[in-house]
Amino acid sequence: MKIILLGYMGSGKSTLAKALASALHLPFTDLDDYIMDKEKKSIKEIFESKGEIYFRLQESKYLKELLDNNNNAVLALGGGTPCYANNMELIKKEAVSFYLKGSIATISQRLRSEKQQRPLIASLNDEQLTEFVAKHLFERRNFYEQADETISIDQKSTDELLQEMLVMIKKDYSK
Ligand code: S3P
Repeated sequence: MKIILLGYMGSGKSTLAKALASALHLPFTDLDDYIMDKEKKSIKEIFESKGEIYFRLQESKYLKELLDNNNNAVLALGGGTPCYANNMELIKKEAVSFYLKGSIATISQRLRSEKQQRPLIASLNDEQLTEFVAKHLFERRNFYEQADETISIDQKSTDELLQEMLVMIKKDYSK
């Protein structure tokens, strides 16, 4: 089984996917890290030197690469991954997907302190950031909501989320 965590920037996909992989004794891959490894550049540098369209093409190519085998794994996607090309279709076909859903307030507050490496929001002030998140989440929610499961992240710790996911996986997705 492949387990995919998706959701907006700052929703904690990588942290939770790592904890989940370790609890389930499965390998963990973060798609952004995989892209950086393959391209030998940071996400910020890829956006700056080649532009977003190039990044989206590579993102889709590497997602296919990661889904195109029978290995069990936990994967954390980038915030935009489900929203481009036929990525969400592939995700639904090849994996069990979990949408980590945060409110506009939760997400914008978390992103305030960690926007530097994120090219889409790096130049925004706090007020612009909240506005951007609200608009962007609205545009993306149709993609995110196609995930098999939706988990609310507001006011929950990583450990609480991990326990919640483990219960769901054991109940509904274990053979
Ligand atoms: C993006 C999210 C980022 C990264 C890139 C674009 C997006 O991943 O893939 O900066 O479009 O939301 P994280 O969600 O891991 O920050």
